[in-house]
Amino acid sequence: MDLANARIRAERLRAEITRHDDLYYVRNRSEIEDHEYDALVRELAELESLHPELAASDSPTARVGSDIDARFPSAPHSRPMISLQNSYELDDVHAFVARLEKELPERKIPIAVEPKIDGVALALRYVDGRLHMALTRGDGANGDIVTENAAAFPEIPGCLHDGWRDVFDDRVDAFEVRGEAYLTLSRFRELNTEREEAGEEPLANPRNATAGTLKTLAVETVAHRRLSAFFYQLVPLAGELGLATHRDELAAIRSLGLPTNDFLRTAEDVAGLEAYLEELGSLRSSLDYQIDGAVLKVDDLGLHERLGSTAKAPRWGLAFKYPAEEAESVVESVTLQVGRTGVITPVAELRPVHLAGSTVSRATLHNWDEIARKDIRVGDAVIVAKGGDVIPKVLRVVTAHRGQGAVPIAPPLACPVCSTRVERAEGEVAYRCLNELCPAQVARRLRHFVGREAADVEGLGVRGIEQLLDAGFVRDVPDLFDLEFAALAALPGWGETSAASLIASLERSRERAWEQKIFALGIRMIGVTTARALAGRFGSIDELMAADVESLVAVEGVGRDVADVLVRHFANERARGVIDRLKAVGFLRDVEAVPEQESVPTDTWFAGRKVVLTGSYDAWSRSDAKKLVEARGGKVTGSVSRNTDAVIAGVSPGSKLDKARELGVRILDEAAFRILLEGGVIDDDA
Ligand code: IVH
Repeated sequence: MDLANARIRAERLRAEITRHDDLYYVRNRSEIEDHEYDALVRELAELESLHPELAASDSPTARVGSDIDARFPSAPHSRPMISLQNSYELDDVHAFVARLEKELPERKIPIAVEPKIDGVALALRYVDGRLHMALTRGDGANGDIVTENAAAFPEIPGCLHDGWRDVFDDRVDAFEVRGEAYLTLSRFRELNTEREEAGEEPLANPRNATAGTLKTLAVETVAHRRLSAFFYQLVPLAGELGLATHRDELAAIRSLGLPTNDFLRTAEDVAGLEAYLEELGSLRSSLDYQIDGAVLKVDDLGLHERLGSTAKAPRWGLAFKYPAEEAESVVESVTLQVGRTGVITPVAELRPVHLAGSTVSRATLHNWDEIARKDIRVGDAVIVAKGGDVIPKVLRVVTAHRGQGAVPIAPPLACPVCSTRVERAEGEVAYRCLNELCPAQVARRLRHFVGREAADVEGLGVRGIEQLLDAGFVRDVPDLFDLEFAALAALPGWGETSAASLIASLERSRERAWEQKIFALGIRMIGVTTARALAGRFGSIDELMAADVESLVAVEGVGRDVADVLVRHFANERARGVIDRLKAVGFLRDVEAVPEQESVPTDTWFAGRKVVLTGSYDAWSRSDAKKLVEARGGKVTGSVSRNTDAVIAGVSPGSKLDKARELGVRILDEAAFRILLEGGVIDDDA
């Protein structure tokens, strides 16, 4: 390839890789498999090495992907948080060992093998035994600060036990421990069952759910999800930790009270290495968490420094990726699904096939760019994989098995539900149905509106919504508030009790918090977190509708794209009509309830008081204690100031206690806290 063509190809590859990085690290979804991604990076690296003039310091080959998120403050890593070189073949493993032997000819090199957890990297900094800061990988140099969220993991201690210094023979006051946050498969399934019951969209897969949860602004949500973590690396912040091997490193992490993975083998030679890779591969399907491979590490930590790192990965380690569990099936037809905002998603209807513990008969095809890229046709034999996803995907076509009759899948000209013209907006991959009153869109909007995190209307599931639409009782969200008791009660399968309970639940929805009402409107790109940020800045729907792009982007976490969507939404005639009607029925108000004021008791000791929690309590986790305070009308804040009403000190309290003493803030122990929680009074209560 000549230089001009190589330049064009390299540009394309960079754009493509950057797009996939954004999908993976920021949007928490991916369109391609890891090995396809790696092939793109490899091709780019080869072009850059053939034509060094094409290399650029910001090339994806020179940096790790970034999950930096503007809603969180960020901080520099103590040492760059780099990645591992990926490999897919045993040949790569042999080459890794051969390279080590060449580099260190004078000695035997035992290699540790452990699972590669398919989660999200997390670094915890402990100073004087207290969790001082938690960081995500970010761009490798800086990470997002997620300390409160990390502290809400059941297994991450806010304070280490008293003997923690002994683990390092008193060598250090501060250290960092790195690992991978993940969601167990059992908890993932539980959360999805809960969501299904509440009429919410399921979480797509455990990795994305973990990434999304870590970047949640509501710490209660993090606590509820019950994330887990395995830690595997200690980084001294000053001084030396005095550890000899990776095995010792994991034992030290465990002694600190942090979770480590049980599977660790140390191979003395290539045969042992291969045996352990196979052993772990066969254990994979029985684990309660997802692994996407094995990690090989030189066991002797002293050699790590000697071997060093490239900009992207250490020379002492290698990731060996296991292939995704796959099965062959046939695309029998393609159906089209219309989402809440009109996006049309093609879904392959497959000949049922058994895959990773369940029968698969449908797979998402994402969009028509994907279909074209993979050249998928109806009638094709295809390879499907579930990965961790609830909805399986079509990986590739088995072109050798393609018959004469395979029919290309054309993009839709009209909506499959209402036959209205569809459009593909510039710069978007999705085709959209333009009819906002399309029954499919309305049904999805209704499902969204009644969801637990939105208006929380009980007693109206998917089937009920269909009935209301079919009966012509409802054409859009506000019609819910005009439903009549007698007509509802007469619907098949309803009766007076169900009708009364739906009407009562709709009545209650008027008292939802303002942020939940914003979320309930179902505006594109406005999730729970953005809705909360908007509610904090604008006091009512009128204020929100009057906001221009500049004042919207001034809200933390709102970028220009979100601001544009909001401005466009509020300029839309149908949306304005919906809002007017929701005002008329009292769902939206001139002055909205901010969450803290919502049905908060005023007759408890905590009502209107600000408290700070420090240390650990015997009876409650910190996040439970927070909930108890909030349920009694109090506010829990993160730092002690003159405005703090009390500091609740548990075992091993942190510097907050010193600060409270310094400022003369009232200090309560666990016993006093319990008395107040139970509605009692304490002696020194003023
Ligand atoms: S060691 C210098 N060990 O996989 C990086 N990483 O693809 C050292 N991961 O960045 C990382 N399980 O986020 C290591 N047992 C394990 C791991 C693991 C999962 C993640 C981690 C890492 C990425 C590399």
